[in-house]
Amino acid sequence: MNFELKPMGLAGAANEKCDALLVLVPQTFKAGKDDLSILVAQALKSGDFEAKPGKLLQLYRPLQANATRLVLVGIGEGSAKQVRTAVLAAVGGVKSSTLKKLLLCFASPAHEAAVRAAVLAVADASYVYTSTKSKPEGRSLQKVLIATTNASEVQTSFDHAAAIVLGVELAKEWANRPANHATPTLLAQAAEKLAEFPKMGCEVLGPKEVAKLGMGAFMAVAQGSEQPLQFVVLRYTGALKSKPPTVLVGKGITFDSGGISIKPAAEMDEMKFDMSGAASVLGVFRALAELKPAINVVGLIPACENLINGRAVKPGDVVTSMAGQTIEILNTDAEGRLVLCDALTYAERFKPAAVVDVATLTGACVVALGGVRSGLFASQDALGDALMAAGNTSQDLCWRMPLDEEYAEGLKTGFADVANVAGRAGGSISAAKFLQRFTEKFPWAHLDIAGTAWKSGAAKGATGRPVGLLVEYLLAQASTK
Ligand code: BES
Ligand code: MN
Ligand code: ZN
Repeated sequence: MNFELKPMGLAGAANEKCDALLVLVPQTFKAGKDDLSILVAQALKSGDFEAKPGKLLQLYRPLQANATRLVLVGIGEGSAKQVRTAVLAAVGGVKSSTLKKLLLCFASPAHEAAVRAAVLAVADASYVYTSTKSKPEGRSLQKVLIATTNASEVQTSFDHAAAIVLGVELAKEWANRPANHATPTLLAQAAEKLAEFPKMGCEVLGPKEVAKLGMGAFMAVAQGSEQPLQFVVLRYTGALKSKPPTVLVGKGITFDSGGISIKPAAEMDEMKFDMSGAASVLGVFRALAELKPAINVVGLIPACENLINGRAVKPGDVVTSMAGQTIEILNTDAEGRLVLCDALTYAERFKPAAVVDVATLTGACVVALGGVRSGLFASQDALGDALMAAGNTSQDLCWRMPLDEEYAEGLKTGFADVANVAGRAGGSISAAKFLQRFTEKFPWAHLDIAGTAWKSGAAKGATGRPVGLLVEYLLAQASTK
């Protein structure tokens, strides 16, 4: 699917041949003298159409436009959220095998946020997963034109959004793949493929190298599986080598059975999504390859399965992390923090400006925030504020959670330096407190995406979050320093 931004108003859009024309009408709409504008004005005046967000009016082969289908789409005040809701509904309505070329025209000059939201919403609404279908019926949509009279003012936002789409779709692709089609080895190969882009590099460490580094916590999780663990180190060098990088760490559990502390059978299939953090790191690198900002970024992915065999780690086992801290594994289902803690220690060697880990870490975060906002934990306010702002810009929302020392109380044990679980209460926070023990050497933030990385139910599938949030954060870093 190809996006293009065109300096064009309603009169121009009416002349463009396309399968569907979406006209985005804000409450402040002022009609011009062209036929399409007059049509919109009449529909508004009669009350058959309203500019409220999500209101739609569909027409077939209207005389006023060269489009097979025309949809008037209300966008209210034209905020990012309103545009997103409206475009999702409108594209959902015109989606069909005949929809190849879509023209989306802003009836009044668009804001940057509105253009961003429109591009991301068209991509979201038209995405189709096909990798493991024998007769794939993929996305029919090939060409998307975004038209607004002030195109030059919104070009940068448009470019960012188009790159984020590529990242989101790569993340969705890998997260959606079933665990037997997305093993740690295949995930590592996907990272190596990204390294073919300019300014990119990738190194993959296998079981031997990881053992040599002393990543005892990561190895403990992987030891119950036949699939060899992989530790991926991706690098994007867009600035001088001396510039401290931002390190992104993505949880790459390609399947989480829970281990000996096994999960219930219902919905266990969804634990194929437990590498969504890793997939989002791949997605961010895909977007970086496109945008080439003047920053340095390192991506770390500890990838393995959490399964059960005769060698599997057992509740009560004590392991030694790369940092030298001993960990009592009281629950083998709290495996994410075990693979992440060693990756966080590994991150120290890059002397990072900041480290952000991304993980489908706790069911407790789903209880706390549902599927709307990711949980955001940050050791420094500046970093927390910057990530929160990036979430707002990209409409990939998150919410700041606390890190008071009291929340670490339950992690105390008499048998090791720390236990890997505390009680049920505040479970997403005690998980974050566990991770924080391994982050003393750098500013650190943690995004718990357990609720936001995928949707359950009829529309089951990966969301590609938080690629948008992370890319906006990195771009903001590129422009401020
Ligand atoms: N991958 C899960 C977290 C998860 C659960 C994500 C449900 C999305 C939906 C994680 O590895 C896990 O199992 N966490 C446990 C921790 C507990 C044992 C302290 C949990 O949340 O139940
Ligand atoms: Mn688990
Ligand atoms: Zn997990």
